[in-house]
Amino acid sequence: MPALSPSRRRSAATQLKIAPAVTPRDDTRLAWHDAYIAVRAETERRAGPLGPEDQVVQSMADASPTKWHRAHTTWFFEQFLLLPHLPGYQVFDQGFAYLFNSYYVAAGPRHARPRRGLLTRPDAAAVKAFRTHVDAAVVRLLASANEGQLAEVLRILEIGLHHEQQHQELILTDILHAFAQNPVAPVYDAAWQAPPPVAATGFAELPSGVHRIGWRGEGFCFDNECPAHEVLLPQAGIARSLVTNAQWLEFMLDGGYATPSLWLSDGWTTVEAEAWRAPGYWHERDGAWFTMTLAGSVPVAPQTAVCHVSYYEADAFARWAGKDLPSEAQWEVACGAGLIDDAFGNVWQWTRSAYLPYPGYRAATGALGEYNGKFMINQMVLRGSSQATPAGHARESYRNFFPPSARWQFSGVRLADYPE
Ligand SMILES: [Fe+2]
Repeated sequence: MPALSPSRRRSAATQLKIAPAVTPRDDTRLAWHDAYIAVRAETERRAGPLGPEDQVVQSMADASPTKWHRAHTTWFFEQFLLLPHLPGYQVFDQGFAYLFNSYYVAAGPRHARPRRGLLTRPDAAAVKAFRTHVDAAVVRLLASANEGQLAEVLRILEIGLHHEQQHQELILTDILHAFAQNPVAPVYDAAWQAPPPVAATGFAELPSGVHRIGWRGEGFCFDNECPAHEVLLPQAGIARSLVTNAQWLEFMLDGGYATPSLWLSDGWTTVEAEAWRAPGYWHERDGAWFTMTLAGSVPVAPQTAVCHVSYYEADAFARWAGKDLPSEAQWEVACGAGLIDDAFGNVWQWTRSAYLPYPGYRAATGALGEYNGKFMINQMVLRGSSQATPAGHARESYRNFFPPSARWQFSGVRLADYPE
């Protein structure tokens, strides 16, 4: 994955040239200062290959322009960290809260999501200036916060950094969707390559009984990973490997997209309405299948993990294969036991678990309580991480979630198997 190599990320961090107004005065503050600079630089690095025109486009309601992602992540720090905690902080532009609030009702009214692509102004230079303004203030806050407020400052800062990392992945998935609408198939990164999955075969045995899932560590997690709790798992197998394009082609050649009995009712309705006959971004040329990637249009590689499939497709494939999808609890237990390959860094893996609160879940109070809890309806959980997930943003208990029809994310399939 050349585009995301740690060495390039480090060099990008040193290129940001944010001059701290005040030198952080101890190791903890310095570590957070460095983490902040590194994450912010990674966003700019990902936006780097994109020109001003690229950064304005919004190819569908679910996808946002790169410029909007860069501004929204900055607004997050301004709104939730600087305004409450940095005395005398001067808002960069009073109009930006309306433009760049995403869905935080408690933080005030906001611009309609499907209309983000109409924001030619503020232009790219203004968004860059916004980022620089907020970066300087965050650095100032880190250096000046008194010991009594530091814990809360760092708590919000940490959420903001993980939030920005989520948007870093969206920058890539959203621009890929935009580029896929362009007949000349633009290249984001000519060196981009999907990682080859481990070529393991067969199913690992998942022991039945009571297991514990959810976040139990000391570090950061999102509230939807809590509380840790016990689950009862049946005896089952879980595929060691990811489903490949070669396997998906078998499904297609066997009429997978033309056999209603394989599909959930909503899935079949979507197949017909969207005329699906292959994964997202696949296109046929002279009898061969190609797929749109961040490196442009490339031939479908048989041994690469299938990508850009929806939950509906994952479910239909599993039914065709005479298998199942793992539950998110099965996935997490298998991952923790080291039973599966390519859990992280290739494709997110759909589970058959609806995105629901864990028993005893309570969303945080205030605006940040809107982060996860209010979306716990009509979505399915994906586990693992993808080739577009930034380094340091993956863990066993992480719960990603999207509607069952979504396929513009780097989403793939791992099967489960139950004894007869
Ligand atoms: Fe956001």
